[in-house]
Amino acid sequence: MGRIFIWSYLICLSLNLQASTHSGRVVTEDGRPITAAIVKIKGSSQHFYSNDNGYFSIPRTPENGIITAWRSGFYIGTMGQKSNVIVLKPLPVDNIDYQFIHPIKHPDKGKRCVSCHKKTVEVWEKHGHSQGEKNQVFLALKNEFKKDYPNSQGSCNSCHAPINASSVTCDICHKINKFNKNSPGHGIQRYELMRPTDGMQLVIGPLKDVSRGHDTFSEVFRTSEHCAGCHSAKHHGKDTYDTYTQWLKSPAKKDGKICQDCHMPHPEKDRFIANGSSAILRQAKSIRNHSDPTMLKKTRMKFINFMLEATRLDQFLDVKVIVSNKNLAHSFPSRSPFRNAYVSVSARYFDHSKVPQTSGPTLPFDNASGLFLAKVLKPRFLIESYKKGASRKTNPWGEFFWWPFTLKQDSRIPPGKSKVERFSFKLVRPDPVVIKAELVYQKYFKEMEKKYRLPSSAVTLDSIEIVR
Ligand code: HEC
Ligand code: HEC
Ligand code: HEC
Ligand code: HEC
Ligand code: HEC
Repeated sequence: MGRIFIWSYLICLSLNLQASTHSGRVVTEDGRPITAAIVKIKGSSQHFYSNDNGYFSIPRTPENGIITAWRSGFYIGTMGQKSNVIVLKPLPVDNIDYQFIHPIKHPDKGKRCVSCHKKTVEVWEKHGHSQGEKNQVFLALKNEFKKDYPNSQGSCNSCHAPINASSVTCDICHKINKFNKNSPGHGIQRYELMRPTDGMQLVIGPLKDVSRGHDTFSEVFRTSEHCAGCHSAKHHGKDTYDTYTQWLKSPAKKDGKICQDCHMPHPEKDRFIANGSSAILRQAKSIRNHSDPTMLKKTRMKFINFMLEATRLDQFLDVKVIVSNKNLAHSFPSRSPFRNAYVSVSARYFDHSKVPQTSGPTLPFDNASGLFLAKVLKPRFLIESYKKGASRKTNPWGEFFWWPFTLKQDSRIPPGKSKVERFSFKLVRPDPVVIKAELVYQKYFKEMEKKYRLPSSAVTLDSIEIVR
């Protein structure tokens, strides 16, 4: 009795509200109701839920408005023209034989991401993620790894060119469903992936209202954990890549900042994320750019304070250098074992002759005064293959981070902290002195560049000159 009453009540309600609302039902392929599905009018920021019987009622859609529904474990479904039922298909069981789609080179034009997401593919091509096995430095180092472990595949590709992909492609990132914090292994092995069976597609992303029938939503896209598997790793129990682990402890995290906030900012204007019949203009705050502004000098310097002070005393010049990491979410510099930065300091008379340094640190190269900011690993012992390898005489920076190592030095600046260093120079003449300090960022150590004949990776981020 009660049931019938509720049903008739619902029917009356829906008739009454027909003018101002749109109702429907979310069900499985065999017609069972799906409760608590998220129902949306595509592109709007509001969302609604289906009730215990799968029914929902939402404000009347604008003309041509598309209604979608999604629930965890299912593809996103769309309401058709003729029926008000939305059928949700269950997600597939992960298929380990899946061949990842290359965004540009995939033989089927209809599947290449570039066919519809041209702008995103263009910015990805400029990003490190597109490098993979094209990166000569990566190949050179992987070759060194092979000399140490001739019978091992190593884990390098788990992050650089996972499974059967040639780099960190669109399809790799958009098959990530979850990060498994405690899972052993490296990179891609620490994620739960979801790959469809042959002929099918499944794209995982940050939106719950994509209406193509082969997309789904995962929360992981809206968290730093999306990056965690590849941007943190230990070798021999010690941190080698530590960007994510540093973020975990950073003030930026406490302020609610995730990797994407700085590395994938929202676009300035509303825009289409694809071309294709089901694409709509989306609000800038609901989508993000794949281009990474942090690689620009300008953005870097927003997070770093660089200051130079100098006082002329009787016989000495007292110089102070201050470098502050203004709340980057990780140390400066952070990340891969090779990234480093330095401040070079010089004092010269107008005729360019040097004022000799009497105290303060020096750089480990060029015999210059300065401050070196890096994490340097020191091999704990020489492994057998190293002793044999006549061509591999030195490993001064610990660039073979897969060796057992101890920490030789970690002078990187943690988030929110500053480094203050004093230098003193002996004045031999009364003439004015030009003091110059330069902040330089390097992708690789200078010794590595020499060894592998790489062009210099040094980028001057800032330069200050004062006269005393
Ligand atoms: C846990 C994931 C992971 C593993 C495993 C890994 N890498 Fe990396 N690698 C990265 C990330 C992430 C970066 C770059 C970003 C950064 O600065 O941290 C990087 C950067 C590099 C770079 C510098 C690239 C450039 O041109 O700037 C080289 C070279 C490199 N890795 C070599 C290797 C080698 C060789 C191995 C295997 C012994 C390896 N990596 C294993 C994640 C990984
Ligand atoms: C035939 C055109 C086409 C191709 C090829 C294509 N996409 Fe899309 N993609 C679209 C359209 C259209 C949308 C939906 C746009 C909207 O709803 O605003 C979309 C949406 C997406 C989304 C959002 C999904 C979500 O749930 O958040 C992602 C991620 C995505 N595509 C990735 C890819 C990747 C990766 C590839 C290549 C493997 C690819 N796309 C290939 C047309 C295409
Ligand atoms: C599947 C592994 C993987 C995932 C997931 C991943 N990265 Fe990376 N990332 C890498 C590797 C490998 C490199 C280094 C590639 C190279 O330089 O050859 C890299 C490089 C970078 C760089 C340096 C770019 C450059 O041009 O030098 C940044 C910044 C970065 N990643 C940020 C992120 C952020 C933010 C996320 C999460 C939204 C993320 N990554 C997710 C593997 C990954
Ligand atoms: C508050 C903004 C901010 C947040 C949050 C942030 N980053 Fe960064 N990140 C930057 C800036 C700015 C740089 C460039 C300065 C530098 O080189 O240290 C950078 C540099 C990097 C680089 C090195 C690029 C290179 O030189 O190879 C990687 C990798 C990276 N971030 C990954 C991440 C990951 C992963 C997260 C989340 C766990 C994250 N970042 C969170 C701002 C941020
Ligand atoms: C390193 C991992 C990574 C790679 C590589 C990557 N994406 Fe994404 N993508 C993300 C993340 C994280 C988001 C979620 C951003 C957000 O919160 O809106 C996203 C969001 C999207 C969206 C949804 C709309 C938007 O812009 O927010 C589309 C479409 C998309 N990606 C397409 C692509 C295509 C096409 C490529 C290859 C050119 C690609 N992605 C490569 C991580 C990646």
